[in-house]
Amino acid sequence: MKTASLKNIRKAMEKELNSKRYEHTLSVAYTAANLAMIHEADVESALVAGMLHDCAKCISGKKLISICRKNSIPVSDVEMANPSALLHAKVGAYYAGEKYGISDKDILNAIKYHTTGRPDMSKLEKILYIADYIEPGRKHASNLARIRVMAYQNLNGTLLKILEDTLSYLMSVDGQIDTMTKKTYEFYKNLHKPIDN
Ligand SMILES: [Fe+2]
Ligand SMILES: [Fe+2]
Repeated sequence: MKTASLKNIRKAMEKELNSKRYEHTLSVAYTAANLAMIHEADVESALVAGMLHDCAKCISGKKLISICRKNSIPVSDVEMANPSALLHAKVGAYYAGEKYGISDKDILNAIKYHTTGRPDMSKLEKILYIADYIEPGRKHASNLARIRVMAYQNLNGTLLKILEDTLSYLMSVDGQIDTMTKKTYEFYKNLHKPIDN
């Protein structure tokens, strides 16, 4: 399958997504591109990953589960309970390959892990995860101003701060936490551990 051009992907997203999600998508794509510039990652890949990261977000939870079943995409209990919040990333990666012809593994993984992260993420995966959190349309997360500054300085530290805040938010509202989010947090917490003497 031919890879869709960035322009065609943008047009497809305008059709597939509601206007709020489309605006968010554009903001994530350009924020990811900026982060790629400053952290010396591939700018085009960041744009494509950002443009496609929520391509399955406007699909109902029920449909997301059935797409996973049909295509042998594994679904965990937490994903089953929160399909829209969690499964749109896995299905999004699947669609990026099947519908838009993206074959670059790094782009597909960035989309797949943009909600939970994963231990030892690639630079592009970190960039998309962070761009999704800090894009200019986001307003409500705590420490956002500080995290936005950090994002342009230190990807791992930013990731850890976002994971920390996400976990404490989910615990405060009694939300279910995906095990991958916990694993990711542990991984980046250990990376930042001061060395014992
Ligand atoms: Fe998303
Ligand atoms: Fe998003």
